[in-house]
Amino acid sequence: MQVLVTGGLGYIGSHTSVLLLEKGYDVVIVDDLSNSNEKVLKNIFKITNKTPAFEKIDLKERESVSKLFKNYNFDGIIHFAAHKSVNESILYPKKYFQNNIGSLENIIDEIKLLKNPINFIFSSSCTVYGQADSMPINETFKLKKAESPYGQSKRKCEEILESVIESGHCFKNITLRYFNPVGAHPTSIIGELPTGVPENLVPYITQTAIGKRDFLTVFGNDYNTKDGTCIRDYIHIMDLAEVHISCLEKLTDVNDDNYFKVYNVGSGKGTSVLELISLFENVNQLKLNYKIGKRRNGDVIVAYADSTKIKDELNWSTKYSLENALETAWKWELNLKTNEQRNQN
Ligand code: UD1
Repeated sequence: MQVLVTGGLGYIGSHTSVLLLEKGYDVVIVDDLSNSNEKVLKNIFKITNKTPAFEKIDLKERESVSKLFKNYNFDGIIHFAAHKSVNESILYPKKYFQNNIGSLENIIDEIKLLKNPINFIFSSSCTVYGQADSMPINETFKLKKAESPYGQSKRKCEEILESVIESGHCFKNITLRYFNPVGAHPTSIIGELPTGVPENLVPYITQTAIGKRDFLTVFGNDYNTKDGTCIRDYIHIMDLAEVHISCLEKLTDVNDDNYFKVYNVGSGKGTSVLELISLFENVNQLKLNYKIGKRRNGDVIVAYADSTKIKDELNWSTKYSLENALETAWKWELNLKTNEQRNQN
C-alpha cells in the first residue's frame, strides 16, 4: 500500500513515517523543508533501514501537486503539511490561509480526478474547540471561534473536507484533532526540531534545561485551576503516530466510499504547567530554571480530551506514559547537543 505523507519530515510526520515503514507500507514523503530538515530522512533510515521516496514540493503550487499525483499511485494520504505557529499566524494571517487551506484544496482537486476512493487522514487540532464550556472535550462539542488565524485555517480545512464529502466526491476521510504531542522516538534519533525559539512548552523546557535558553517563563499562575497554571492534555508522540496506522487500517476496511469521521486524540488526562515542570525535573533528575510571567494572549485555560470515541471505534489506546515522553524529550535534546558538538569538531 503506497501512502503519501505530506509534511513527513516534521515532528508528527517523521514519527508516523517510521511506524508506516516498519509496518511495511510504501511511504512517499512530501515536504517543502520550510520548517524541517532533510537530515531527518537519514534518521528515518537509521531507525528503519528503509529510505522512503522523498519529493521536495510546495503543495501550494498546483502544477507540482498534479505532477506528484501523475508520478505515483497513492492508496492513502496522511496530510500533516501545514504552518503551525500561532504567533506567526497572527502576524502573517494570509501566509497561513494560503498555505494551510491552499495545499489542502490542491490535494482535493487531485483526489477528485482519481478513479477509486482514496483513504485520507487529516491533521487537525484541539484548537478548533477554543475554550470549551466543560471537560473533558468530546467530538460533539460546538466548535468555538478560533483564537488565531492558525486555528481558523484548521477549522476551515475541516469544513472543506466535510463539504467535499457531502457533495458526493468519493473519498474516505478521518480527521484527527490532536491535543498536545510531546516526547520523542525511543531511540532518540528523531524528535521535535523547532526552528528558532520554541513556542510550545516541552521544547522550551528541554532547551532551558540544556542551557540554550536562560529560563522558562510560565505564562500565568493566576488562572482558576488547581495550581493557577493552564491545563493541557499531553500525548506521547509514539501513541499519536500509532493512531494513524489504526486509521489507515480502518479506512482500508470500510466499504462506504464517503466515509467521514472526526476523532479527538489525547491521553484524557489534564496536566498543569507546574505539574509538567515538576514531573520533568523528577523523571530526569534535574532542576529547571523557571519564572512566573504574564498570561499569554489567546491561551485557553483548560483543555483535555475525551478520547472514548477513537478508543471504542478504532481499538486504539495509549501505551506510553507522560513520564516516558518527558524522559525521551530530554534524551532527544541531549542527543541533539552531542550531534551539534560532533559537527563542530
Ligand atoms: C499551542 C497553540 C495551539 C496549537 C498547539 C500546537 C496557542 C495559544 N495554542 O497549544 O493552537 O494547536 O500549540 O502544538 O499558542 N507555556 C508556558 N511557557 C512557555 C510555553 C508554553 O507556560 O514557554 C504554557 C502555555 O501557556 C500552555 C502550556 O504551556 O498553558 C502548553 O503550551 P503549548 O505547548 O504552546 O501548547 P498549547 O497552548 O496547548
